Amino acid sequence: MSQLSVDHLLGIKELTKEDIQLILTTADQFKEVINRPIKKVPSLRDITIANLFFENSTRTKLSFELAEKRLSADVINFSSAQSSVKKGETLIDTVNNILAMKVDIVVMRHPNPGAGVFLSKHVNARIVNAGDGAHEHPTQALLDSYSIREKLGSLDGKKVVIVGDILHSRVALSNIYCLKKLGAEVMVCGPATLIPRHIADLGVKVELNLKKALQWCDVANMLRVQNERMDISYFPSVREYVQQYGVNQEILDSLDKEIVIMHPGPINRGVEITSEVADSGQAIILNQVENGVAIRMAVLYLIASKIQHNDQ
Ligand code: CP
Repeated sequence: MSQLSVDHLLGIKELTKEDIQLILTTADQFKEVINRPIKKVPSLRDITIANLFFENSTRTKLSFELAEKRLSADVINFSSAQSSVKKGETLIDTVNNILAMKVDIVVMRHPNPGAGVFLSKHVNARIVNAGDGAHEHPTQALLDSYSIREKLGSLDGKKVVIVGDILHSRVALSNIYCLKKLGAEVMVCGPATLIPRHIADLGVKVELNLKKALQWCDVANMLRVQNERMDISYFPSVREYVQQYGVNQEILDSLDKEIVIMHPGPINRGVEITSEVADSGQAIILNQVENGVAIRMAVLYLIASKIQHNDQ
């Protein structure tokens, strides 16, 4: 059986193109499973997974939990808001206490970039990064690439623009790594203040004009402005941001082709996209959410199979 080259999923940067393709083809099989009348398989019956969320989440948390249950894993959930972290317990102490309950895989979301890498060096469990600060969100990028592949047949040569708050976005960085490894061309578009200065070093185009970016692309991935990560103002007002970078039906109708609209969620309706666009046939936002379960089943299955493989 094919194996991943990594023991943990910490970011897309560490994956090879073959790793990504293995995850996508494994997800194909799990997508078939979750569309059956009986949606459960016994693949992870002997595996215990802890979901540790030190930051808010709706989609990622529910999607991982559902993926784990579909694979018949035993699941425990931890949310920092109701935990002893509030009493001053360190990350390593918290995780080691959870691991003492014989946990095999830790799925973790954390506000600090590199928290997953740190944990992987200090605890005896496999780590899956569910988003670490403004660094990486690998399963989001994998489900985004899976959704583009499903819609357009392949990633190779496709043009994808990521629009909005690139500076504070883990989704943008993971998508750039993933799309480029799969052969797509990538552009970023947004206010100059929200584009990291050296982003072109990653091999992406930079465009400040939304209309030009949309005219160039096959797919536009619209990102939320991450106010919670901003300690200063990066643009004059939300009204001005919407005028310059909000996608509405009028701008889409003015293009000479139909492009695919994506969004990782949560959406600020009326800011980065209008409700009309979000709910239109051009948007594949709910397909992304559906595909997230299959992708996370594939990731957990492949990481768990390495535990069993290494233990032999
Ligand atoms: N896309 C995403 O990470 O959403 P949540 O923050 O709701 O998990």
